[in-house]
Amino acid sequence: MNDTPIGTQIQRATAAELPEIARLAGAIWREYYPAIIPAAQIEYMLERMYALPKLEAELREQTIRFDRLLVAGHCRGFSACGPTTDPRVYKLHKLYVDPALHGAGYGSLLLSHCEQECCKLGATHLCLNVNKANERALRAYRRNGFVITDAVEVAIGGGFVMDDYVMTKVLTPPTPLTVQ
Ligand SMILES: CC(C)(COP(=O)(O)OP(=O)(O)OC[C@H]1O[C@@H](n2cnc3c(N)ncnc32)[C@H](O)[C@@H]1OP(=O)(O)O)[C@@H](O)C(=O)NCCC(=O)NCCS
Repeated sequence: MNDTPIGTQIQRATAAELPEIARLAGAIWREYYPAIIPAAQIEYMLERMYALPKLEAELREQTIRFDRLLVAGHCRGFSACGPTTDPRVYKLHKLYVDPALHGAGYGSLLLSHCEQECCKLGATHLCLNVNKANERALRAYRRNGFVITDAVEVAIGGGFVMDDYVMTKVLTPPTPLTVQ
C-alpha cells in the first residue's frame, strides 16, 4: 500500500484524542499479545506505558507525536515517535493497528508516515525496540527496510523483562522533482 487508500487518513493526535488511543491500546494488547507475553505482564505494561497520564506526559514533555489511523472515520490504529538524545536519531515508540485490519498494509502506511514526519524534523535514522517473539511486527519492519542492530534485555520492574531487538532504518528524504 504505497498511497493512502480512499477512506483512510492519518492525522496527528491532540491531547483530547489520547483517551481514545489509550482505549485502543488496551484492546489491541489484550487481543494480540497473549500469544507472546504473559497476561500479568500485559496488564503491568499497559498500566506503566499506556495509562492516560503517561500518554499525556509523553505528548506534553517529551515532544512525542502521536498519529491516528482513521479508516472510514474511525480510529483503528496509532503510532508515536519522537526525538532521542542524538538529534539525527528518532525513535518509533508505538505502532498499533487493530488486529481486524492486520495484513492489509495499514501498519506500513503508519510507519512510512512516521518516517516522513521524522525526516522533516531532520532525522537521518529511525530506531525502535521490538519483542523478539513478535514475528508479524518483525516481518513488517523488515519489509519496510529496518534491520536488526542490537538485542537488549530491559528490566521494567515487577520482575518483568522485555527481551527485544533494536531495529534501525536509515531514512532518505524524498528527492524534490526538478521539472524544467
Ligand atoms: C506490527 C503491526 C503494526 C503490523 O501491521 P500490519 O498492517 O499487519 O503490517 P503491514 O502493513 O506491513 O502489512 C503487511 C501485510 O499485509 C499484506 N498486504 C495486503 N495488502 C497490502 C498492501 N496493499 N500493501 C502492503 N501490504 C499488503 C502483506 O502481504 C503483508 O502480509 P504478511 O504480514 O502476511 O506478510 C501490527 O501487526 C500490530 O499492530 N501488531 C500489534 C502491535 C505490535 O506488535 N506493534 C509493534 C510493537 S514494536
